[in-house]
Amino acid sequence: MRVLVTGGAGFVGANVAVHLAGAGRDVVALDNLRRRGSELNLPRLAAAGVSFLHGDVREPSDLAAAGAVDALVECSAEPSVLAGVAGGLDYLVHSNLVGAYNCLEHCRAHGAQLVFLSTSRVYPHTRLSAVTLAETDTRFTAAETQEQAGVGPDGVSEGFPLDGPRTFYGATKLAAELLVAEYAHVFGLRTIVNRFGVIAGPWQMGKVDQGIVTFWLAAHRFGRSLSYLGFGGSGKQVRDLLHVDDAAELIALELDDPDLFAGAVVNAGGGAGCSVSLLELTALCREATGRETPIAAASETRPGDVPWYVSDCARLQGLCGWQPSRTPAQIVADVDAWVGANETELRRVLA
Ligand SMILES: NC(=O)c1ccc[n+]([C@@H]2O[C@H](COP(=O)([O-])OP(=O)(O)OC[C@H]3O[C@@H](n4cnc5c(N)ncnc54)[C@H](O)[C@@H]3O)[C@@H](O)[C@H]2O)c1
Repeated sequence: MRVLVTGGAGFVGANVAVHLAGAGRDVVALDNLRRRGSELNLPRLAAAGVSFLHGDVREPSDLAAAGAVDALVECSAEPSVLAGVAGGLDYLVHSNLVGAYNCLEHCRAHGAQLVFLSTSRVYPHTRLSAVTLAETDTRFTAAETQEQAGVGPDGVSEGFPLDGPRTFYGATKLAAELLVAEYAHVFGLRTIVNRFGVIAGPWQMGKVDQGIVTFWLAAHRFGRSLSYLGFGGSGKQVRDLLHVDDAAELIALELDDPDLFAGAVVNAGGGAGCSVSLLELTALCREATGRETPIAAASETRPGDVPWYVSDCARLQGLCGWQPSRTPAQIVADVDAWVGANETELRRVLA
């Protein structure tokens, strides 16, 4: 089976490509190397036997250069939630939306399955900010009783309302999801849309607006100061974490059985059992690194930020029984081990 992984030198793309190649698939990774640090994945891809194609999903001819494939895993993106607010909107729309369209056309031309990486950011932040929360000493939790559909202590499900603003990033992803649904319906393309929450693990070039676990851990390692941003500066904001190896294993399952997943749109995340607040993440980073770094409290909330998001993955679990197996402590330990083993070159990107 020949698989094209777009964004294949990025965090998720490279981990997926290496995982699939290790399982005996013929894998091509296409990437324009826009993300700082993606170039560090190239030797790793080569060592795993993944072919690399320097190309751009905005250019149909670059995709055509990959040739016929049985499946395409679309992992390319401008993934920042802040993208487009102070510039960069043109790139965001062309890369995330037109790029997805070009990937769909490539799949249509070759009868290939499409595995599309979407995001929890398709759920409007205004709606997520209206979730009724309770508070413990270290985190926000969702109350048992909610006014909105599709949310509770187990997380946000696919039945959560979709009306409202969601960031330009979330908007491009939801728009792409709508195109995917039409291609599945009209052309019979076998597609699966994964709405991932926070994915974390080794090889994520974390920065303040994307890749929080690496960003937080690296600050502890390199002695960079941090801030609890927004929500009163309490550090109680919560996300569920999914280890990138759990994500790669899920994508491999989806490639194994395209008919089972055809047309599905599913939340995919660590779930309530694998969620942390920033305060709790700090404790894990201190434990892993044995170091502390100063953390200020900044009460002003960033536009589009939400105090709590946890993926309710019941639909996905009902479909295939998939469960993530790695814990937040393991994720942080794995990121720490990776940063430690590559400290000199990562200092340039992460410090
Ligand atoms: N990491 C997460 O927590 C997370 C969560 C939800 C969804 N996702 C989705 O998963 C996918 C992968 O995200 P990631 O975390 O690996 O991001 P990443 O930035 O590490 O990887 C994206 C890769 O795409 C490449 N790229 C960007 N524009 C391109 C273009 N026009 N043509 C070809 N390549 C291009 C970048 O150079 C980069 O290597 C994205 O679609 C993202 O929206 C990620």
